[in-house]
Amino acid sequence: MTQNTGPAAVAIAGARKVYTVFPQRQRVAVDDVSINVPAGAIHGLLGPNGAGKTTTLKMLLGLVRPDAGTFRVLGVDSRSRAGRGSLGFLPEQPYFPPQLTAAQAMRLYARLSGVPEREIKPRTDELLARVGLEGNQRTLLSAFSRGMLQRLGIAQAIVGRPKVVVLDEPASGLDPLGQRDVRNLMITLRDEGATVLLSSHQLSEVEAVCDRVSIMSRGRVAAEGPIQELLGVAGRTSITVAGLPAGVRSRLGVLAADIADAADGLRVFSVADSDVRRAVDAVDDAGGRVVSVQPKRESLEDYFTRMLANEAGEVA
Ligand SMILES: Nc1ncnc2c1ncn2[C@@H]1O[C@H](COP(=O)(O)OP(=O)(O)OP(=O)(O)O)[C@@H](O)[C@H]1O
Ligand SMILES: [Mg+2]
Repeated sequence: MTQNTGPAAVAIAGARKVYTVFPQRQRVAVDDVSINVPAGAIHGLLGPNGAGKTTTLKMLLGLVRPDAGTFRVLGVDSRSRAGRGSLGFLPEQPYFPPQLTAAQAMRLYARLSGVPEREIKPRTDELLARVGLEGNQRTLLSAFSRGMLQRLGIAQAIVGRPKVVVLDEPASGLDPLGQRDVRNLMITLRDEGATVLLSSHQLSEVEAVCDRVSIMSRGRVAAEGPIQELLGVAGRTSITVAGLPAGVRSRLGVLAADIADAADGLRVFSVADSDVRRAVDAVDDAGGRVVSVQPKRESLEDYFTRMLANEAGEVA
């Protein structure tokens, strides 16, 4: 980064973790993973179940002992006192003592994060409002829904104003509005100067907010970069249309490929970039309506399928 001469907010190099599953069996969960996140960025760790995302994050947090690798946050060992002081963490399955109220739990985590006593009440109120839990200060956590606990987990992760916020599947258990709130929250955190590292197995969760992603597969980083660069299909544009009469399909057929029905009666197809004008005109002529025109992108499912096929090919 040219504009950024300070140390990376997160620098993981050569991370490796081997779990002993049975006394005689070992499983390589993370294998030579390196991730660099510049200060002030939102970085996504994307990958299917079991790819090694949580293990990588837990090694960074000092919650899992690595077999190899260095883990630095803002230039210092992430497991040192100074390193841990810069980190806020939402675990994959946040647990809270159920007999506490939301306000009591937040007070506990605020104290642990070193928030000065007189700031705890206003900070707690502000954060509970920020995650959509206003009015629940006195609610017992045993009465919280899954999504409410997730929201509390996010509030807890940022109570100490950490410079680096690590969120393991922040959208887990949240309804669409909750997911949008979390996206906006991550953007606000970045605008306030924090760095965000999040994990997800959903493309939609990361594409709207992440500056860059590391795609993990089977314990390794398979690719790293901006999503559009990784998943973009060169030379093709994706067009979504509404109200297209069935008969027009054949007319478009010459131009369009991958014609598929989407939700709400929408139809999606792709054309060569040079055919966009003609395709839009054809839709207009047929009485349809163009809903969106955007660069075609491979789905994450297709990406992984192709990558696994390539790996199999290499072995064979
Ligand atoms: N405590 C453990 N003991 C043994 N194996 C483990 C342990 N934790 C994780 N693993 C294994 O390590 C691999 C990576 O797991 P990890 O939880 O890091 O994946 P993940 O990418 O976070 O997956 P998910 O999307 O399901 O959360 C998996 O094969 C998993 O079975
Ligand atoms: Mg995980």
